[in-house]
Amino acid sequence: MTVQVNKPIADIQPTMWGIFFEDINLAADGGIYAELVKNRSFEFTKPLMGWKVQQKNFVEGAVQVVNRPEKEDTNPRYLQVLLQKASGHDLGLTNEGFRGMGVKKDITYTFSVLYRQSSPTGKLNIELVNAQNEVLGSTSLTPEVADNQWHKQSVSFKSNATDPKAKLNIWFEGDGKIDLDMISLFPSDTWKNRPGGLRADLVQLLADLKPGFIRFPGGCIVEGFDLAQRYQWKKTVGAVEDRHLIINRWNTEFSSRSTPDYFQSFGLGFFEYFQLAEDIGAEPLPILNCGMACQFNSAELVPAGQIDPYVQDALDLIEFANGSTDSKWGKLRAEMGHPAPFNLKMMGVGNENWGPQYVERLKIFTKAIKDKYPDFKLVNSSGTDPSGDRFDYLNGELRKMNADLIDEHYYRSPEWFFSNARRYDNYPRTASKVFAGEYASHCDNSFVGAARNNWKAALSEAAFMTGLERNAAVVSMASYAPLFAHLEGWQWAPDLIWYDNLHSYGTPSYYVQKLYSNNKGNKVVPITLGKDVVAGQDSIYASAVIDTKTKELIVKIVNASGNKTTKEIQLEGAPKLAKAGTLTVMQSCDMKQVNSIENPAALAPKTQPFAPKGKMIKAELAPYSFAVYRIGL
Ligand code: AHR
Repeated sequence: MTVQVNKPIADIQPTMWGIFFEDINLAADGGIYAELVKNRSFEFTKPLMGWKVQQKNFVEGAVQVVNRPEKEDTNPRYLQVLLQKASGHDLGLTNEGFRGMGVKKDITYTFSVLYRQSSPTGKLNIELVNAQNEVLGSTSLTPEVADNQWHKQSVSFKSNATDPKAKLNIWFEGDGKIDLDMISLFPSDTWKNRPGGLRADLVQLLADLKPGFIRFPGGCIVEGFDLAQRYQWKKTVGAVEDRHLIINRWNTEFSSRSTPDYFQSFGLGFFEYFQLAEDIGAEPLPILNCGMACQFNSAELVPAGQIDPYVQDALDLIEFANGSTDSKWGKLRAEMGHPAPFNLKMMGVGNENWGPQYVERLKIFTKAIKDKYPDFKLVNSSGTDPSGDRFDYLNGELRKMNADLIDEHYYRSPEWFFSNARRYDNYPRTASKVFAGEYASHCDNSFVGAARNNWKAALSEAAFMTGLERNAAVVSMASYAPLFAHLEGWQWAPDLIWYDNLHSYGTPSYYVQKLYSNNKGNKVVPITLGKDVVAGQDSIYASAVIDTKTKELIVKIVNASGNKTTKEIQLEGAPKLAKAGTLTVMQSCDMKQVNSIENPAALAPKTQPFAPKGKMIKAELAPYSFAVYRIGL
C-alpha cells in the first residue's frame, strides 16, 4: 500500500462528521430532555395520560381538566382540583414518568408548578416512591399567593436511593379550589447544571464525538403526518409553558411497537438546540418544512402561491439565530438568555421531499433566502433512494439549480455499504456538494432493536466511510441516523446511542463515528493498493488524511475478511516520521457482537503505541477489524 503524504487532493471540511438529532425513539421527551413528568401540561390527546388520580373516598369532579380556548395556540389546558378538607392520602395525583422516572441517590430534584387560587387552599405534599410505594424522598409546597392569578413556585428535595422506575406522588392537604399547570420535576445534575436542562450523560456522549455539526429537529417530524402536525420552530421558543404541545409523528398508537404516549412538549426547542450546538462545538443545521407533509403519509402540500408564511419562518429563523437584539426575533433570543448571535450559516429546506412540487417550492425558498443572505448555505433534499429514476431526476434538477448541498439518505444492508465504498469516486468535483445526511447499515430483520447495532453493521459503515473521506472533495458533511433510542420506547432500529432511564451506551457504530470525527484531519491524501484506490480489494478498505495543524498523518484501514492480513504501507513524500504513533483498533470475530447497558464497551476502540520502520508502517490487520494509525510528521 502507498500513501502519498505530500500530495493532498482535497480539503476536509470542518463540518465533515456530524450528528443527526430527531425526536424519534423517545429522544427528546423521555430522553435527552431531563423532565421526569409525562404530560406535565395535560395536553396529550387523552388529557390525563401518564397521570392517576388517587382518591380514598370518591368525590365526583374533584379533579378536572379544564380547556381554555383563549390559549388554544399555546397552553390550552390546566387541571382544577377541588379540596374538601383533604388530608393524608385522601386525594392525590401520581405521575408515572416516561417508562418510570430514573432517580439517583443524593441527587436534588426540583418540583415546580404553576398554580392559581383565590384564597389559600393548603399545601401539596410531594414524594418520590419506588414500585413498592416506599418513599425515596419527599417535601411539601405551600402555594404562597392567593390573588386568582397564575404563579410559579418550586421546591427542591433529595432522593435517598437510586431507582430506574420511580413515580411522583402529589398529595393534597387543605380546602378550596386550586388550578394547576406545568407540574414538573427535574434533576439538578443536568448538562452544565442548567435548571430545566438536558440529561448530562447523553450530551456527554455527543460532546465526545466532537461533531462538526448537529442537524435538528429531524427527519420526518419536520414534515409531520400532515401539515398541521409539521414542526414549527416559532412554537418551540419563548416561555416553556407557552410552547404548544403536538403529537409526535412517531406516535405509533396503531403499530405493533406501540408508543401512544409520544408527544412533543418542545421543552427542547430551537433555542435549546442552538445552545446544545454551541456547547458541543457543532455548527447548527436546522431543517425546515418546505410546504410539504411527509410524502410517505400524505400528499398534502401548500399551493406554491401560498407558501410565503413558510418562507418567512425560514427568514425569521436566521434573524432569531443571528439578528441584532433590536430585531423582533433577535430580541427574543436575547430575552431567552443569549444576546450574542448563534452564527447560523446553513439551513435545510425540506426533508426527504421529492418531485417537481419540491423543486418548485425549493426555488421560492432559495431565492428569498439568498436574496437576503447571499452567503447562507442551503441543504436540499434528494428524497429517500440512493439511486433510481427519482434520485436521478432530483439530482439533475438540484445540480441545475447549483444547489449548495444535496442531502442523500440511505438505510441499506451491510453488503450495500461494502459495495458502495466507491460511490462518490466519480461524482463531479465542482459545484454541488453532498451531505450524506442519514445513513445506517441495517442487518437482517431477524435482529431487532439494539441487536441490530452489531459489529457487522458498524464494520460495513467504517468501510463505506473510507469512501466518504477519500471523496471529501465531494462530500462535505455526513451523519449517521437516527441518533438516540430508549430501550423501552423505540420505533426504529438501529440507532447510534441507546439508553434506559439511568444509563446509556454507545454502539459499535458510535465508536466508528467517533474514530472518524476524532481523527478527521484537514486534507485528504491518496492511498492505493498496487495501482488502485483502496476500496474492497482483498477485503481491504482504506483512506488517509493529514492534519496540517498538528502535523500528523492518519490512516484508516478496514479488514472485512476473516483472515489476518499484513500490509506494508509506504509513506511516499513523508518528510520525517515520529518514532512512534498510536494505533487504535476495533475488532471482533463475532459479527453479532453488540454493546449493552450491562456491557457498554464490549466492543470499543483500544489504543496502543506502534513504531514505523523507516517510512513504512507494517500494518498487521486482525480479521474483521477497523484500525486507525496516527503518527507525527
Ligand atoms: O431516521 C429515521 C427517519 O428516516 C427519518 O425521520 C427520515 O428522514 C428517514 O426516512
